Amino acid sequence: MHEIGLFEAMYSARAIRRFKPDPVPEEVITKVLDAAIRAPSAGNSQNWAFLVVRDQEQRGKLAEIYRKASDAVGSFYAARGRPAHMTDEQFRRFVSSGMYLWDHIGEAPVLLVACLKQEPLPPPDALPAAAVTAFYAAMPHLARISGASIYPAVQNIILACRALGLGTVMTTNHILYEHEVKEVLGLPTDVETYTLMPIGYPHNKFGPVSRRPVSEVAYADRWGNSWRG
Ligand SMILES: Cc1cc2nc3c(=O)[nH]c(=O)nc-3n(C[C@H](O)[C@H](O)[C@H](O)COP(=O)(O)O)c2cc1C
Repeated sequence: MHEIGLFEAMYSARAIRRFKPDPVPEEVITKVLDAAIRAPSAGNSQNWAFLVVRDQEQRGKLAEIYRKASDAVGSFYAARGRPAHMTDEQFRRFVSSGMYLWDHIGEAPVLLVACLKQEPLPPPDALPAAAVTAFYAAMPHLARISGASIYPAVQNIILACRALGLGTVMTTNHILYEHEVKEVLGLPTDVETYTLMPIGYPHNKFGPVSRRPVSEVAYADRWGNSWRG
């Protein structure tokens, strides 16, 4: 199969939520996972785990949880309304595509759950006092840091899928019922899920990915000085 270039993959890997039922060959899934594990992680810890769920009954159980969680998340998005950068039509398509997945996620031939094993913190007496102070002051930000050890791998999955002709979308709604997902998958208590990704051959076309322009979101040297490059 002819592989597309990296930039073409980035510009066309839009969220895919409708899949053909065709199975994804095992070696193709392995290739996607092998791309995932090339990602960086904090301290090179590589504490990730990827659960490839193909069993129909298991997919059904995850789909039920996703459906239940989506009712709550859906009302959140409805209350927040259309983001300013989206047209009414773009927002309508986003909502209807998202809602389609609520009821159909289990039809994707693969549900990939990306997880991280939480590392225990070193005991305070193993650290210099200044490090303990700085570390505990940073506690409210730690969730951000831990997500940063799995989401680069998730983006590699998105791009590898695109390169291999597979569609996917990163989803997080299921985290509202994390304990139920953990039970279905038999995850140890110190392993947490970060995304549930349906993967399969897409029904519709890839891309283009449309986004707010660089000039609106990038600054030169200080907040407010728009990047004019
Ligand atoms: C943190 C995060 C959580 C997301 N959760 C969901 C989700 O639960 N369900 C869903 O359908 N899409 C989810 N998405 C996909 C976004 O809706 C999608 O990336 C965005 O609308 C852009 O879509 P596009 O690439 O097709 O333009 C999530 C994306 C991110 C980054």
